[in-house]
Amino acid sequence: MGNSEIIDFRSDTVTAPDAGMRKAMAEAQVGDDVFGDDPTVNRLQDRIAELFGKEAALFTPTGTMANQIVFKTIARPGWELLCERECHIANYEVGGPAAHSGLMVSFLDSERGFFSAEQVRDAIRPINEHCPLTKIVELENTHNRHGGSICPPEQIAEIGAVCDENDLHFHLDGARIWNAHIASGVSLAEYAKPFKTLAVCLSKGLGAPMGSLTLGSRDFIHEAHRIRKMFGGGMRQVGIVAAAGLYALDNNLAKLSEDHSNAHFLAEGLNSIDGIALNVERVETNIVIADIAETKIAPPEFVERLAKLGVLCVQFGKTTVRFVTHLDVSEAQCTTALEKIKDSFS
Ligand SMILES: Cc1ncc(COP(=O)(O)O)c(C=O)c1O
Repeated sequence: MGNSEIIDFRSDTVTAPDAGMRKAMAEAQVGDDVFGDDPTVNRLQDRIAELFGKEAALFTPTGTMANQIVFKTIARPGWELLCERECHIANYEVGGPAAHSGLMVSFLDSERGFFSAEQVRDAIRPINEHCPLTKIVELENTHNRHGGSICPPEQIAEIGAVCDENDLHFHLDGARIWNAHIASGVSLAEYAKPFKTLAVCLSKGLGAPMGSLTLGSRDFIHEAHRIRKMFGGGMRQVGIVAAAGLYALDNNLAKLSEDHSNAHFLAEGLNSIDGIALNVERVETNIVIADIAETKIAPPEFVERLAKLGVLCVQFGKTTVRFVTHLDVSEAQCTTALEKIKDSFS
């Protein structure tokens, strides 16, 4: 927004690169990445692969491309993909699994964003001449629509075991895996272990202007490289952007804990306002989903009323709105926002 009067809780994607990040970008060594010649991209890919304990990584412009490249690389039309009902890949990637890869998506329900190993086992179809082949399982951690919830590593390991036993490809949409790591203390490599492939984003909580990575085995990344080109994602002197990602890892990863405490603070404050309800215990990372049913104001009007106060949030459901904390909102701004909302509703 570029306006200091505005406190923008719409998403953790709204951050602007700070002076240090811009300097790192300006000074980045570059080369033509389609030839594999960009030293900064190569450094970022190697570093991310190592952090997550995978053989290789591939830089992509967006998280959507990082996810969809995986499906296109491994899938055959008519295969079935199992994922949680509210997940990003099937609800907010414009039908990508079907459009690009011919995948049939089947949803598993959950209370907090994460299905169980047993649900996966029960969903696997018999192999015969009638059924689609159940071949891919996808999990999102943290889970956006479930309010930034964190999946316990034990549960991931159990699902991974069912995938291994049944020859299913297990993929993680880890756009916000950084938040899970910082909030829980579980290492990125431990989170990544049960998955064959991952997608991680630099442009959410880490504050880079763009950039995501697909991770997996060396053979998988070799093939994914061709698919990235097919999707139009072959970039040239893109070390300028990869430098922002490296800077973010060095400077912004640890700061996610501030976003988490700000989210908790915001949640407690919102919960104390008449008509706004949420379970503060459920705010595990940087996303706060508030139920405003009792205000008797519909979400679009609520969002507009707050916008007039200089506080931005988004409608999330029939009676809910979402607030996301990030690098560009401070605790003081959370206090100011809460005061404004309280005044408006008292
Ligand atoms: C959980 C999740 N996965 C994937 C994405 C896709 O990222 P992008 O917007 O960079 O395509 C998002 C974007 O907000 C997301 O929240």
